[in-house]
Amino acid sequence: MTLIDMPKIELHLHLEGAAPPDFIRSLAREKKVDIGGIFDENGAYKYKDFWDFLKVYEAATTVLKTPQDFYRLTRAVLAECAANQVIYAETFLAPDFCGGGDVSAWKDYLAAIEQAAQEMQSEAGVILKAIPTCVRHFGPDQAKKTALCASETAGRFVTGFGMGGDETFGTQGDFAYAYDMAREAQLQLTSHAGEWGGAESVRDAIHDLGVTRIGHGVRAIEDDALIEEIIEKDVVLEVCPGSNIALGVYDDLKDHPIARLRKRGVKVTVSTDDPPFFHTTMRKEFGDLAQTFGWDGADFKALNQTALEAAFCDDETRKAVA
Ligand code: ADE
Ligand code: ZN
Repeated sequence: MTLIDMPKIELHLHLEGAAPPDFIRSLAREKKVDIGGIFDENGAYKYKDFWDFLKVYEAATTVLKTPQDFYRLTRAVLAECAANQVIYAETFLAPDFCGGGDVSAWKDYLAAIEQAAQEMQSEAGVILKAIPTCVRHFGPDQAKKTALCASETAGRFVTGFGMGGDETFGTQGDFAYAYDMAREAQLQLTSHAGEWGGAESVRDAIHDLGVTRIGHGVRAIEDDALIEEIIEKDVVLEVCPGSNIALGVYDDLKDHPIARLRKRGVKVTVSTDDPPFFHTTMRKEFGDLAQTFGWDGADFKALNQTALEAAFCDDETRKAVA
């Protein structure tokens, strides 16, 4: 078995962001929704920079209207996971796009998503857990609604709480109330930080939100004391190298800090973030890292082990995946 064929664990995958352009186009046609010029001449998602990406992302989600749409999306995304030998995945999904943060509507969407996940677990052997996620630029009040949705459905499928969106909007600490709600509901916590914000943003997520994982976190490399703290507190980074290159956080994979972070002793994992937006897959991520940094089977095994230990699941699931 070559190393790109090995079983993989993916901790950072946005459900809406994993929607293939064809899937969005056909729903738009079916529902007669005008999503504007979000595709290029090859039919791929088209955006100029991160902020434009967020606009295109949100335009694409407008065609995802019903629980049945999310059921179909979840099945399609998990089929792609299986094609990449992903055996366990955690998906971020925003209740804002599933009924606007209304708890009762959210439960209907979630039931459809969980149904698809159960089917795909038996059909394709992929285990999925869900991380309801607030959207930072929708603001702290909307995040409280998201946290309520997450808390009301916490259990064996909904195991975490997260935050994505525009990291330059407000501070991590502005969302402390939402994170406190999620923590009280026994949800495990992660937040996007150190992607568009610097090391300070990562430090704030750890101090002000109490997260045990960081989405991206790569710019922690800019602060030695923070690196020490991350190691000491056993915080794990959900690194998405292909996303960082596609969005221009780094120009080239050889300049990406993932290998340096790992050498320093930081626990890193590898994910795709929003694969069709970034023209990536888990197989491609593994292949590119092997080629650029010379990582071999043992390196990827260690990476998978870190991901398994950091997964937001119970020990029974962990044993089933190991
Ligand atoms: N939502 C989806 N992808 C994201 C990213 N890379 N950063 C922040 N929010 C996101
Ligand atoms: Zn992300």
